[in-house]
Amino acid sequence: MKCALVTGASRGIGRAIAVQLAKDEKLYILINYSSNVSAAEETLRIVKEAGSDGEIIKFNVEKSAEVNEAITNWRTNNPDKEITVLVNNAGITKDNLFPWVTEEDWDAVMNVSVKGMYNCTQAVIQKMLRSRYGRIINVASLSGLKGVPGQTNYSAAKGAMIAATKSLSQEIAKRNITVNAVAPGFISSDMTSELNEEELKRLVPANRFGKVEEVAYLVSFLASERASYITGEVININGGIYS
Ligand SMILES: NC(=O)c1ccc[n+]([C@@H]2O[C@H](COP(=O)([O-])OP(=O)(O)OC[C@H]3O[C@@H](n4cnc5c(N)ncnc54)[C@H](OP(=O)(O)O)[C@@H]3O)[C@@H](O)[C@H]2O)c1
Repeated sequence: MKCALVTGASRGIGRAIAVQLAKDEKLYILINYSSNVSAAEETLRIVKEAGSDGEIIKFNVEKSAEVNEAITNWRTNNPDKEITVLVNNAGITKDNLFPWVTEEDWDAVMNVSVKGMYNCTQAVIQKMLRSRYGRIINVASLSGLKGVPGQTNYSAAKGAMIAATKSLSQEIAKRNITVNAVAPGFISSDMTSELNEEELKRLVPANRFGKVEEVAYLVSFLASERASYITGEVININGGIYS
């Protein structure tokens, strides 16, 4: 049975991706989270409502030992299932102007996005290489392309994800594994709930924040077999702010 592992799928964009992959691709969904179990359970409920199935898999993407143990145990208990789609979505922000960014906040943001991408991709890539099929989608950000004041740590992390997407895609394209990134702008979620939407939406040509489902439609397409000739791309989804 084909499965998708979506990191940070308990809330926001990750939850919408999990649900969309269940709807469109009928994949069995591995719903990763780090602390919010009730939110992860709600994602699983919606995945089932969407006509598919899945399970919750807890690990902190930053910790390679935790990631490897969780995936190895899952594989042992599920020899009939195979992860064909990986969505590296887990991410955090610790915004501040650069002189006030502590080493701790620099590392925290880099570790979830960049180390997390490394850990999760390492955990699934050997099997994808052997099966000669796979879809890897990295959730980057407008911040990683354009840069945003107050987000040097986050821009560095998302920029690194974009660069790694390009290199890895070229290494493994021959094995029918595509690696792409999406770069959302302002999307309504817990991450952006503290922002002044009324003021910031004026920066967006579409004059509104995006919806998590709009990002999920794009990721679902990239995860499908129909997207087989798209690899190494960074796709903007930002209502026209930047491309
Ligand atoms: N919202 C936007 O405007 C926007 C724009 C561009 C890019 N993005 C990117 O899109 C992704 C999702 O953002 P969002 O807005 O949906 O954020 P969110 O609502 O804050 O949700 C973050 C998700 O990541 C999980 N997570 C955080 N740290 C983790 C860790 N160490 N290990 C495993 N899971 C972890 C959380 O799990 P728990 O529930 O367990 O805490 C939660 O499911 C992020 O990579 C973000 O950088 C967002």
